[in-house]
Amino acid sequence: MIIGIIGSGAMGAGIAQVVATAGHTVRLLDQNTQALQRAGQSIQNNLNKLAEKGKLTVEAAAEVFNRLHLTEDIGTFNDCGLVLEAIVEDLGVKQQLFREVEMLVAEDCILASNTSSLSIASIAAACQKPERFVGIHFFNPAPLMQLVEVIPAVQTRPGLAEQVRDLVQSWGKLPVLTKDTPGFIVNRVARPFYGEAIRILEEGIADIATIDCAMTELGGFRMGPFALMDFIGHDVNYRVTESVFTSFFFDPRYKPSFTQKRLFEAGYYGRKSGRGFYNYAEGAVQPEPTRDEALSRRILNRVLAMLINEAVDALALNVASKQDLELAMTKGVNYPKGLLAWADELGLPAVLTTLDELYDEYHEDRYRASALLRRMVRQNQTFFQQETVAHG
Ligand SMILES: NC(=O)c1ccc[n+]([C@@H]2O[C@H](COP(=O)([O-])OP(=O)(O)OC[C@H]3O[C@@H](n4cnc5c(N)ncnc54)[C@H](O)[C@@H]3O)[C@@H](O)[C@H]2O)c1
Repeated sequence: MIIGIIGSGAMGAGIAQVVATAGHTVRLLDQNTQALQRAGQSIQNNLNKLAEKGKLTVEAAAEVFNRLHLTEDIGTFNDCGLVLEAIVEDLGVKQQLFREVEMLVAEDCILASNTSSLSIASIAAACQKPERFVGIHFFNPAPLMQLVEVIPAVQTRPGLAEQVRDLVQSWGKLPVLTKDTPGFIVNRVARPFYGEAIRILEEGIADIATIDCAMTELGGFRMGPFALMDFIGHDVNYRVTESVFTSFFFDPRYKPSFTQKRLFEAGYYGRKSGRGFYNYAEGAVQPEPTRDEALSRRILNRVLAMLINEAVDALALNVASKQDLELAMTKGVNYPKGLLAWADELGLPAVLTTLDELYDEYHEDRYRASALLRRMVRQNQTFFQQETVAHG
């Protein structure tokens, strides 16, 4: 299958490298000549590095590069079996693009978007044949991140998402199927990692270094929430939070914080701008965490209970299967454990108690426990453990 990728920025270039490496002929298009040249250069550099490390032979790297065709002429996309866009995150621009693409490609060409925040249904709606449309959401950097979310829209024909999932798997990726709901799996379930950590900071329960330390040293997360937000950039992370909140019809569970909004407004984006929650200037003194076992546990339990609640609610609403939820959070954002397995380990009653105590204290809808969690506690169920026992 010949694959067309439109948009050769951070994501498009990475995806082109993935599919060319998997053996497909790839047409990579951008409206900006420089962006296209940069993409070609960066793919070439990546392949050279892989060859230097012995992960690809020099010949294989050259073959991968030869399968990649950089173009500014959309007319060359007429022989593609799949066209995936990774252009600017703008519904009108994406819709216009697919109107053009559909006039060129064959009837059975699959159309796909890598959008992070728009609904797949809204982009597909611009197409004559929306039943061939699907979301294929990669993570950055695409060549390194294993997880890919595959999202059928309400218009997508039955079977297409499964077909695309198998195709993505053949590229050496770990695909998960998810409903076309805001944030798909990862960008929805991960929200409390940031939001609840900020809330704990805002209430003065602990400072950034102490919260980060609790989440890494006690929780086993690779990065604490504040270090991670600084790493992602508050321009990106704040916008995702705001978009998820708006798309969920302003559900208070996803409410953004003023703390992060002010950093965003000030241009304190984090690492990339030299300042975020932490100061990255040379010689800047970093805050020391308070290592207090009881405090650390309180922080971890609170953030974890909120994360688990989000995962349980996603399961309750059939956003994804149990297995795909676990895979998404361990492979998409490198959580040390799947959240449902973690809930089993902590004990569902303990997680529910943490949430109910927060709810009793604040009377905010943000802390409402998922009905599924409550029912499972009532029925003395677990997500996986009983099945393991039952299967011997
Ligand atoms: N950056 C991420 O972490 C990330 C992760 C997952 C998904 N996404 C999604 O992927 C898409 C691209 O994101 P990115 O970070 O690669 O953006 P980017 O700004 O790095 O690249 C976008 C590219 O698209 C080109 N472009 C814009 N409009 C075009 C058009 N009409 N025709 C052809 N080319 C056009 C631009 O010239 C640019 O080179 C967005 O929808 C974004 O939401 C981004």
